[in-house]
Amino acid sequence: MYNFKGKTVFITGAAKGQGRAVALAFAKEGANIIGFDLGERISYPRYNDACSADLMRLKTDVEALGARCEIFCGDVRNLEDVKNAVEGGVKAFGGIDVLFNNAGICAYGYSHELSEQEWDAMLDINLKGAWVCARYVIPVMRKQGSGVIINNSSVGGLRGMNRLSHYAASKWGLVGLTKSWAIENAAYGIRVVSIHPTGVNSPMNDGLAMMEGATPQEIAERSAGNLLPVPWIEPEDVADSVLFLASDKAKYVTGSQYVLDAGLLTR
Ligand SMILES: NC(=O)c1ccc[n+]([C@@H]2O[C@H](COP(=O)([O-])OP(=O)(O)OC[C@H]3O[C@@H](n4cnc5c(N)ncnc54)[C@H](O)[C@@H]3O)[C@@H](O)[C@H]2O)c1
Repeated sequence: MYNFKGKTVFITGAAKGQGRAVALAFAKEGANIIGFDLGERISYPRYNDACSADLMRLKTDVEALGARCEIFCGDVRNLEDVKNAVEGGVKAFGGIDVLFNNAGICAYGYSHELSEQEWDAMLDINLKGAWVCARYVIPVMRKQGSGVIINNSSVGGLRGMNRLSHYAASKWGLVGLTKSWAIENAAYGIRVVSIHPTGVNSPMNDGLAMMEGATPQEIAERSAGNLLPVPWIEPEDVADSVLFLASDKAKYVTGSQYVLDAGLLTR
């Protein structure tokens, strides 16, 4: 459907969920994949594990599709980790055409009950992490005179959410980055878009359910409440939108917010 042969896609949070689905979808279209994810367990939220084995599995699965894949373990908050992955990826493939800023965490908590560590982790991973990646990828794209950056926000980046204020704040922040980077980089042939999925059937949803003592479906319905009669969408549905936005079919889409919410925000 698309032709990404010879193009290179840098994906954070590539080991699981939406990142993995996006990596496999690009690989099916012939793209080179640079997959980045956690090498070590992080303490908040509790569901986040080290992903080295999942990254290895991604590499095997991408290569089975006939595409090339380089994997890097690290934390998006760590400038050295990200710099190393960007440099390693460029060395392997010669450039970066698409950056999918996707790594993220989610956890419930009223603002007045959050610890400083919980606030900082949410903002640092979901918002600062996207900046760290762009900090190293934008110069590569500027040199090429082309590129697309897609920031994975959420419906929480376009509305308020109960017990998710720190999550929503981080996701609204991505909208500010999207619009500002679009302005700063349009003259260099770089487009920047944020996406805003409703609840997605991913390990994040399972992790939230585990922490809350609920089922994944209850979690999806609590934070979403879609207009279309589905509790959630699948990671592959998100991948369909990301490939469209990264393609030339979306060549005049920049600075904007692409909503895939099953009608949630209309309710
Ligand atoms: N699941 C949902 O309902 C939903 C809905 C809308 C938006 N989102 C957003 O989509 C993105 C992907 O979420 P998902 O549903 O695939 O969740 P997920 O938990 O399945 O995957 C997230 C990935 O990010 C990685 N990650 C977390 N912290 C990291 C760090 N500091 N450095 C590097 N990697 C890190 C995790 O290891 C994991 O592989 C997130 O930004 C999330 O906020 C999720």
